[in-house]
This record gives sequence, C-alpha cells and structure tokens, in this order.
Amino acid sequence: MKGIVLAGGSGTRLHPLTIPVSKQLLPVGDKPMIYYPISTLMVAGIRDILVITRPEDAPMFQTLLGDGSRLGLNITYGTQDEPRGIAEAVIIGADHIGDDSCALVLGDNVFHGTRFGRMLQDEAAGLDGCTLFGYRVHDPERYGVGVTDESGRLIAIEEKPREPRSNLAITGLYLYDNEVVDIAKNIQPSARGELEITDVNRVYLERGRARLIDLGRGFAWLDTGTPESLLQAGQYVRTLEERQGVRIACLEELALRMGFIDADTCHRLGAEMSGSGYGRYIMSIARELAA
Ligand code: G1P
Repeated sequence: MKGIVLAGGSGTRLHPLTIPVSKQLLPVGDKPMIYYPISTLMVAGIRDILVITRPEDAPMFQTLLGDGSRLGLNITYGTQDEPRGIAEAVIIGADHIGDDSCALVLGDNVFHGTRFGRMLQDEAAGLDGCTLFGYRVHDPERYGVGVTDESGRLIAIEEKPREPRSNLAITGLYLYDNEVVDIAKNIQPSARGELEITDVNRVYLERGRARLIDLGRGFAWLDTGTPESLLQAGQYVRTLEERQGVRIACLEELALRMGFIDADTCHRLGAEMSGSGYGRYIMSIARELAA
C-alpha cells in the first residue's frame, strides 16, 4: 500500500500564522504538524509516501523530511497549484500509486489511540474497496458526515451538511483500492469548484464497497484548523507526553519500532538533535530498545 499526505491549502483560518509558512509545518506540541499524519502512515506499515504541498512550500518540507531514507522511508513530493480539492491528491499521486492500493491522510489530521497501528495494518491487509474512519464530534457540520443504519453499516455520506443527520464525522484518513484513481478522475467538481473526497467515497458507497470503522470515544482525533484547536491539540499531546514520559508521533522512534531502521541509526538521529528534549528522547529509546 502506498501513502499520500496532502499538505496543501492556504490555512486561511490560521492567518497570519500561515501567511509565511504552511499550516502543516506549524507546531503541534514539540513537533511539526505533518509528523502526525506521517506517523499514521508509518504505523500502518507504509514506507512509500508522497507528500503533496503548494509549490511555494515544497522546499521547507524537503528540508524537514528529505527523501525519508534516514527513517527507512521513501518520501517523494508532488504539488497542488490551486486548492482544487482533496480528491485531486489521488490524481496527482496516480503514478505514485501505480497498480497498488493507497492510504490518503490529510496533513492536518492528528490521530492518537491504542492499537491504532494494528487496526490499520489489518484493514490494509483485508481492504476491499475503501475503508473510512468515523469519529463522533459536537460540530459535525464542519466535516464530511456519515449516516449509519442500526447495524452500524454506512448508508449515506454528506459533505458539510447544514443539518447533519448524525454526529459521525468522516475523518481525514482514507484507505482505497486501486479503483480510486479512476473514480477521482470521473467525479465532477462541487459547487465550490473542488473535487470532494466525499464524492469519491460516495461512489464506493453506492457500489457497496465502502466500509466504516467508528474510532470510538476512547480515541483522539484532533482538529488543528483554528488557533484554539491548534493550541488544544498541542496541549493534549504535551499532557500525555509529560504524564507518561513517552512521545506521540516521534518518527525516529516509530521507524525503529516498525523495524525500518536499527537502534544505532536511531540513536544517531537523536544525537543530531541532542540539544532538544525530542532528540534526547530518541537517544534514550534507541538505548532501551537496543538493550
Ligand atoms: C475535509 C473533508 C471532510 C473531512 C475533513 C477531515 O474537510 O472534506 O469530509 O471530514 O477534511 O479533516 P476540510 O478540512 O477540507 O474542510
């Protein structure tokens, strides 16, 4: 399975923060926002990752992530010139996907929960059509919203409905089989001129090939789109990290735990950042897992 992180958009709800810098590079806790969606792909076992940015932002993402080889990943880059919608990401990524399946994650989506990686790996292995992940929120009108029948089966999806028929938001993580490229190429732009990912998902649903997983209330899916939610996401991360003495979305640690790099390499990556708590954490994890 190939991974795509969509880190485009102009982040207008975060102006002036996002005038000089891409939203997905802003800090959430002690690391850049894009670390979180990349960690989501990594725990799913995905190593081939296409990062899609605005053309003007590409150099900074490349400075941060490079070609990914230091983490045992293969990171390549694509650009989205205009915000023409999330579904365009799979068209931009068509060559990257090739004849494989793909996991698309939005660059501002923070997921955190126990056994998340195991669940994603199982879903990826048994993928048939598409898998969507739902999360109950108090403001569903801001998201794609799913409607389910009594058995929990998905029966409808609407994008930002004025009067939501449920409080189940469809999160920004989507697993797709190879059909997705054709489907995305054949949908029509919405009234706001965008290729909506919800329309892609609806095609899968109409074909009876969309599966929904409710992430449940013991899970965190955090918003980072406004100054308040950005700060809250950072506080959530730091609260858990300080309490437990662990780090969330520490890519070097994940690369080691997933077997993408060895402990020596991990330790070296930490040592390069030993001036920060993040770097020292990586060194201690590398020592612990090497022992
Ligand atoms: C997008 C999708 C929406 C989804 C959300 C998740 O909305 O269109 O269906 O629920 O991401 O973050 P946007 O954030 O682009 O408004």
